[in-house]
Amino acid sequence: MLDIEKKIEALSKEIVATSIANKDQLETFRIRFLGSKNCLKPLFGALKEVPNDEKKSVGQQINQLKQTAQEKFDDSQAQLEEQTETKESLDFTRPGEPQPLGARHPISVVRNEIISIFERIGYGISEGPEIEDDWHNFSALNFPPEHPARDMQDTFFVEKDDREMALRTHTSSVQVRVMENETPPIRTISPGRVYRNEAISARAHCFFHQVEGLFIDKDVSFADLKQTLLYFAQEMFGKKTKIRLRPSYFPFTEPSAEVDVSCTICQGSGCNVCKNTGWLEILGCGMVDPNVLEASDIDPETYSGFAFGMGVERIAQLKYRVNDLRLYSENDVRFLNQFKSAF
Ligand code: DAH
Repeated sequence: MLDIEKKIEALSKEIVATSIANKDQLETFRIRFLGSKNCLKPLFGALKEVPNDEKKSVGQQINQLKQTAQEKFDDSQAQLEEQTETKESLDFTRPGEPQPLGARHPISVVRNEIISIFERIGYGISEGPEIEDDWHNFSALNFPPEHPARDMQDTFFVEKDDREMALRTHTSSVQVRVMENETPPIRTISPGRVYRNEAISARAHCFFHQVEGLFIDKDVSFADLKQTLLYFAQEMFGKKTKIRLRPSYFPFTEPSAEVDVSCTICQGSGCNVCKNTGWLEILGCGMVDPNVLEASDIDPETYSGFAFGMGVERIAQLKYRVNDLRLYSENDVRFLNQFKSAF
């Protein structure tokens, strides 16, 4: 080994061994290895004395040494800077950062409350797809083909896997799915989003939310339906709430009714929310039509049942007096923040 190579090796070891723990040590290192009078310079001078056939290799070793010194310097400098930065940014005397809490969406709040009211009397939860076939949304629910009843619910049609499908117009479709897959007794509620081809305004929207209810067993009567809905109305709007049932029509129930609750604002004495009637409509219901039971292979001679369906936005409107449906889907935090105390 040439003398110069020994020197290179020694300096290389020294570079590795030098510890740089602060700015002063970094500066000492810089002056020694990279400064204008650094200790590598004489090596370049001594290169002249190296025999020609060794020049190339020794030259490379010196360059390598210089590079090692530069790298060590750069790394140490970066490390020291990082350390001082974190030290400076950690001010333990500063007050803690406030953690802003989000709020549940009012539709979720009301949906969860509806669910919990029915869970307390033994209802389970079922869900179905939002893209639904004609059978589950219409035919199995006793909507005859081409019957004007289908026009009651302006439908969005979509194509899926070359089949014409509908965005479900109501959660009644989930009733059918449950009846197909389960045997009575059935006690279920089905929350979900539904779609209708409506112009968007304060009072109508192209999507909204419903909760469907279905009860099927032996000897279920209209009185059971009425009592269940009274229980629901009083849990939801207060013990003094009254209900009233008005005859109505739905293809999937017979008889059918629409249910009003005594006005939650004026308690029935008449105000502009209930248009001076004292009553507010909240849901549709009825005894499940025997055709609907049969379509799902449930024997109407043995079983009977009731069903009901309510709009979540409608209940939320009555609970929170929100009079514009569009607010629910605009994601305006000034609106959403107002529900912070609700869960
Ligand atoms: N599906 C009806 C609607 O969207 C609501 C409804 C009415 C559901 C009566 C029912 C029912 O289960 O029995 O307007």
